[in-house]
Amino acid sequence: MRRPFIAGNWKMNTTRSEALDLVQGLRQALPHGNSVDVAVCPPSVYLAPVAAALEGSAIGLGAQNMYHESGGAFTGELSAAMLLDVGCRYVILGHSERRHILGESNEDVCRKVHAALTAGLIPIVCVGETLQEREAGKTSDIVAEQFFGSLAGVSVADASRVVIAYEPVWAIGTGVNATPEQAEEVHGNLRGILASRFGAAVADQVRIQYGGSVKADNAAELLAKPNIDGALVGGASLKAAGFAAIVQAAAS
Ligand code: PGA
Repeated sequence: MRRPFIAGNWKMNTTRSEALDLVQGLRQALPHGNSVDVAVCPPSVYLAPVAAALEGSAIGLGAQNMYHESGGAFTGELSAAMLLDVGCRYVILGHSERRHILGESNEDVCRKVHAALTAGLIPIVCVGETLQEREAGKTSDIVAEQFFGSLAGVSVADASRVVIAYEPVWAIGTGVNATPEQAEEVHGNLRGILASRFGAAVADQVRIQYGGSVKADNAAELLAKPNIDGALVGGASLKAAGFAAIVQAAAS
């Protein structure tokens, strides 16, 4: 059985005090000792204070991005070791906003995945098609291309530590989530290509999150699907009660 994993991607939202209030709210609202892995991914300037506020809780910390080099003259960038140093366990890589707004390629994402795994971070690797690609019937090709490109050269042993997030671009921040059937179809395909690339044991172990307009009122039906192992939540992760309700849906 794969342990469900719900992560909140706060994106470029929250002030410092909002971030700390949100952590306080989550510490109170989240069920204790449950069977779900939970993480929050605040803006990187707030990672350290959020890590301090999370101390003693079971909520993990993740970053939203990193650079693949381990150090040096890379103005504005952060290394995997730096993220670990401030308490991160996870890092979101290849989010569609980074692919489409900031121009990251599969090769860029792949270099980051290797650096994260080498350092001991768990990468949450995002894949997903645009509306145009879906309407052109290219969803499975695009998702496979991003999957193989982003995980090129990853060993079988490392692959079992990776988390995949299927996030259709048209569902992100739009209020229009993929239906459970649409999501399950892609998740099932991803499970299949995981097996072909890394073997059945790894495919069985790797968690595939769904992301894109996940909310308290649609989480349960999405998470009920056999290949949907969790959620990467944007907007709805910014309110403690709503995020806790999604975690609750994953627990039951
Ligand atoms: P959303 O964002 O939940 O606001 O659609 C999801 C994401 O981008 O990770």
